[in-house]
Amino acid sequence: MAPPAGRAALHERLKRASAQLEAKIQIATLELAEQNELLQRQSAEIERAAAAKSQFMANVSHELRTPLNIVLGSTRILLQGVSGALSEAQKRNVGRIDSNARHLLRTINEILDITRIETGRMPLRLSTFAVSDLVEEVLAEAELLSARSRLTLSSEVPKGLPRMHSDREKVKRIVLHFLSNAFKFTREGRVIVQVAYRASSRRFAISVADTGIGISATDHQRVFEDFRQLDESTTRLYGGTGLGLSISRRLATMLDGRITLKSALGEGSTFTLHLPRRLAQA
Ligand SMILES: Nc1ncnc2c1ncn2[C@@H]1O[C@H](COP(=O)(O)OP(=O)(O)O)[C@@H](O)[C@H]1O
Ligand SMILES: [Mg+2]
Repeated sequence: MAPPAGRAALHERLKRASAQLEAKIQIATLELAEQNELLQRQSAEIERAAAAKSQFMANVSHELRTPLNIVLGSTRILLQGVSGALSEAQKRNVGRIDSNARHLLRTINEILDITRIETGRMPLRLSTFAVSDLVEEVLAEAELLSARSRLTLSSEVPKGLPRMHSDREKVKRIVLHFLSNAFKFTREGRVIVQVAYRASSRRFAISVADTGIGISATDHQRVFEDFRQLDESTTRLYGGTGLGLSISRRLATMLDGRITLKSALGEGSTFTLHLPRRLAQA
C-alpha cells in the first residue's frame, strides 16, 4: 500500500490523465463529426454527379438516335435498289454501313435503358402471371435463334407452380437475354430453360443452361460490368454490345432479385435469375 502522500500524488496523476483523456476524446469526437459532414457532402456531390452523368447520357443518346435512324433509312433504300441497282461492291459497302449503324443504334438504346433505370425512369409494372406461360412465350421467341443454329432448345417447368407477382416484361427481357447469349456462345449441344420454386424462401429460380464456350471463374464478376466482353476476337465474331448482362443485372435488382452464374471454361454456362414470388411495391 502506498503512503497517504503517495496516494494523493497518484490520485492527482489519475485525475490529470483522465482530464487529458477526456480532452482527447472531445477532440476526436469533433474530428469525427467533421469527417462525417465531409463524407456526407462528398456523397451528395457524387450522387449529383451521377445524376448529371445519367442525364447527359440520356440527352446524348437521344441526339444520336435521330441522325442514325436517317442513316438506316437511307441504307435500306439503297439496299432495296429503289434508287437504282447497286453493284456487288457497292452493296457490300452499304451493307457494312447498315450493320454498323444497327450496332450503334443497339448500343445507344441500351445506354438509354441503363440511364432510364438509373434515373428512375423505368417504372415497375406489376402483375400476377404464370411463369410457365412466360417460359413458353420466351421459347417461342427463341425459336428463331434455334432455327438458325444446330442446337436443341428445351425447357423443364414443374407442374403446379404458384403464380408470380412481378414485372412480367422485365422478367421476360432478362430470360430472353440469357437465351440470346446462350445461343451466341454455344456452337453445338443444347440450351435448356429450367424453372424451380422453393417454398421455404418463396423464391423462383429461372435458369438458362448451355453447352457453350463457358466462362472461367475469374471472369464471373466481370461479365456483368458495363461494356464488358470477355474475348474481343470472339465477340467481334458474335456481335453484341457488352451491355446485356449489365442491364439484366440492374433489372434483376429492380425486381428484388439477383443473377447467379455457374460456369467453367469449355464446360457451358448456367445463368440463373432468382426472384421473389411476390414483389412488394416500394
Ligand atoms: N452463355 C454464355 N457463354 C459464354 N460466355 C458468355 C455467355 N453469356 C455471356 N458471356 C460473356 O459475357 C460477356 C458479356 O455478355 P453481355 O453483357 O450479354 O454482352 P454481349 O452479349 O453484348 O457480348 C459476353 O461478351 C461473353 O464474353
Ligand atoms: Mg448479350
